[in-house]
Amino acid sequence: MKLLNIYKVIFIFIAITANFIGAQQDVLQLEKGWKFVQGDNPQYSLPSYDDSKWKNILVDREWEVQGYQDYDGYAWYRIKIIIPSSLKNNTFLKDSLEIFLGKIDDCDQSFINGKILGINGKNAAIDKQADDSFKTARYYYNRNRRYTLSVNDPRILWDKENLIAVRVYDQGGKGGIYSGDLTIGMVKLVEYISSNHDHCVFNFDKGNASKTFSLKNNSNSLTLKGKLLIQVQNKLTKKIYFEEKKDANLAPLSSQMFSYSFKNRNEPVYVNYILEFDNTKERAIIVDEVPYVLTPVPSLKPKINGAKVYGQRPGKPFLYSIAATGEDPMIFEAANLPDGLKIDRKTGIISGSVLNKGEYSIKLEAKNKYGAAKSDFKIVIGEMLALTPPMGWNSWNCWGLSVDQEKVIASAKVFKQKGLMKHGWTSINIDDGWEITGRSQDPKRDADGKILCNSKFPNMKTLGDSIHALGLKFGIYSSPGELTCGGYTASYQHELQDAQSYASWGVDYLKYDWCSYETHAKDRSIPELQKPYIVMNEALHKIDRDIVYSLCQYGNGNVWEWGASVGGNLWRTTGDITDTWSSLSTIGFNQTVNAKYAKPGNWNDPDMLVVGWVGWGPSLHPSRLTPDEQYTHISLWSLLSAPLLIGCDLTRLDDFTLNLLTNDEVLALDQDPLGKQAVQKIVKDNIQVWVKELQDGNKAIGIFNLDKEPQKYTLNFSDIDINAKIKIRDLWRQKDIGTFSGKYETTVPSHGVILLKVFTK
Ligand code: GLA
Repeated sequence: MKLLNIYKVIFIFIAITANFIGAQQDVLQLEKGWKFVQGDNPQYSLPSYDDSKWKNILVDREWEVQGYQDYDGYAWYRIKIIIPSSLKNNTFLKDSLEIFLGKIDDCDQSFINGKILGINGKNAAIDKQADDSFKTARYYYNRNRRYTLSVNDPRILWDKENLIAVRVYDQGGKGGIYSGDLTIGMVKLVEYISSNHDHCVFNFDKGNASKTFSLKNNSNSLTLKGKLLIQVQNKLTKKIYFEEKKDANLAPLSSQMFSYSFKNRNEPVYVNYILEFDNTKERAIIVDEVPYVLTPVPSLKPKINGAKVYGQRPGKPFLYSIAATGEDPMIFEAANLPDGLKIDRKTGIISGSVLNKGEYSIKLEAKNKYGAAKSDFKIVIGEMLALTPPMGWNSWNCWGLSVDQEKVIASAKVFKQKGLMKHGWTSINIDDGWEITGRSQDPKRDADGKILCNSKFPNMKTLGDSIHALGLKFGIYSSPGELTCGGYTASYQHELQDAQSYASWGVDYLKYDWCSYETHAKDRSIPELQKPYIVMNEALHKIDRDIVYSLCQYGNGNVWEWGASVGGNLWRTTGDITDTWSSLSTIGFNQTVNAKYAKPGNWNDPDMLVVGWVGWGPSLHPSRLTPDEQYTHISLWSLLSAPLLIGCDLTRLDDFTLNLLTNDEVLALDQDPLGKQAVQKIVKDNIQVWVKELQDGNKAIGIFNLDKEPQKYTLNFSDIDINAKIKIRDLWRQKDIGTFSGKYETTVPSHGVILLKVFTK
């Protein structure tokens, strides 16, 4: 097994508090009994208000799935509950009450008995007055609302009925209180403990995995003493193969460091940190997971990867870099190139421009001292771009609005240096944050109306040139309203001028959002939803450059049904993704109704990848997805023929993430020239089987386990329309498993995947 030095931690953080004293009686469930109304009225926060005519609503799912399809704006939730003083009796700490409202999409202002309790997850002081500022917050939809009040706080009515009212504002996508498990209880000891294990990396050396992390006591008065048990446990068999107990002694506001080391087996394992407090026997359990690598190291011999078909319009600048693994230096050839194209034999960059429409069959070759590889490649000069899903990097999921030119150049360099280009990664895309912000007093456009870049992007043309010089494509972002989603200058009534600027900078890819166009759209009818995209599409057709056109309006109006007709090469099908299992699985496993609309040139986009160090800028953290969840992410997105846009800081790319992003057999599913999106064939309990038809007549199959526990599963071939004896290959391990007839049995890790190619031809 190869020794790895993985500068990263992958984890899940589950702080489970198991209070051994009166476990259940000390928590009130707030799950059932909520009332709901659309609109806004300050009276709704008052206990005296009569809500008997309001509708019932569930708080473990968004309002969209409860009959309020596409509703954005204000809505209120209310619940009445008696808070008994007996809650205090059975707990060690008797000082604070906690009201847990789960996650709210997008923003909230929550009230207890008419007074503000908290805003967007932060406690509110007793004298805070309600206003509208809470609704300008964005990206809080995935944050827990855990509000605490001192037991003496006059806002609580002990042993009486209390009214909890939540004023929600949603600005696009789904809305409402949605994560469930809402409770009222006393604050426990474990809530004073925090851990930085999720920011500490595992080190891999001499066959061992080791980690150093700290626990912090956030109480300014209590000393927390106990034992910390560190346990390494196989995820599938649950066998514990390493245990170590340490004393924990944390003075108020202090931290303590813990280190451990165990023999690494490169298989799915949990590391459980179990802290048991001496005086209460309360336990804090944190679960970490150790990254494990599946993709074999590529051979030193050349192998050609990447898209097998590439489209460009006649006469437009052409750029394609041959992706090939193997030791450098390499020499590249491309036989039968059409007139107008030339190849740089050292870099494998094919460039120029072709005037004549047509399909050209090319033979690519890559040679080095270990041998040579050949591969068929088709160039299609016609009207279509993005004949396979775009693969690249985008600044948003890491840098958010703090993106700058240096960060973009650094990412492009990593594409080259770390060999990502050898696997077909081709595009470097700047998201929001390059324009002048709407708040600035400075001009946003020059005297002729030409868009200006902010000081972080001093010269877009030079930036574009340096990206192209590496053989990469260059992408940019805008919105059809006056402002982008991040509040920067957008393209409203300057669409053609902006397209011309993009062309002059060498832009190859435009992500075009929806933000702030809302005020111009008369309603949510399909023609109104289409209008801004048609305007920009016409502009893009007037410039002397091909620009791949990515629509970003979160799936409104079933965009997959009409995205192609307004010129879209890809379109977002959902709201924004974040690096959590709930976000990933809700998005990924719901890409079903749109499947039939994906085809070469037109792709469903379930949003960008959330592996590696992400954070929406400026501070980043390692993806909160576990290793198995990350395998699920890349497998599912590849099966779905989804655009693959890496969203992490590439300068902090660790071996695990690199390995995850460079499995050529997995990426080949995404780039399969047939362009058929996988379909969900089987849903059985928490197992889902997705099947993708491939160009060579074979199929790719993903068996996903959405359960918290590993699942044994038998795939009956008749359920996926296979009757013959078939050869099966494990794509992550790049290994043939054998020949099977009738069925295939396997065990799938929790939140993990078994990704197979079955050879029926
Ligand atoms: C929207 C998009 C994101 C990102 C931001 C930029 O939220 O969905 O992907 O582009 O805007 O502000």
